Amino acid sequence: RNILILNGPNLNLLGTREPEIYGAATLADVEATCAALAAELGLTADFRQSNHEGQLVTWIQEARGAAGGIVINPAAYSHTSVAILDALNMYDGPVIEVHISNIHRREAFRHHSFVSARADGMIAGCGTHGYLLALRQIAHMLG
Ligand code: DQA
Repeated sequence: RNILILNGPNLNLLGTREPEIYGAATLADVEATCAALAAELGLTADFRQSNHEGQLVTWIQEARGAAGGIVINPAAYSHTSVAILDALNMYDGPVIEVHISNIHRREAFRHHSFVSARADGMIAGCGTHGYLLALRQIAHMLG
């Protein structure tokens, strides 16, 4: 089954963006490790990033009846986007939310995520390894 891995705004600059918070790995590095683990789990990973809320909404809509599961790091849209939550609410497969940093150890405005109201699970503070944990959880949920 194909797993959609979605990344929100500013994650295209991973590796150079506040590396003391988000680490040195680039998004291309994360994509490569996700692809390798997906293959090991008998899955495929469709890895995408957008700085635009509407693009993320469209991709989530298109995942209906198509993707076996969704791993999503909505980045700053976690804290603002009812539109992404609504799109995920129309999706019927497993959804795991990922945050590279521990959002609960950071500013108060990062403590609430709209997406968490739909996510089956959430991984935060495990660095980019969190994407791999999320993929394993999706594989587990798909049985
Ligand atoms: C993030 C945390 C968000 O608060 C922030 O806006 C991001 C990245 C994370 O992966 O830790 O862009 O989602």
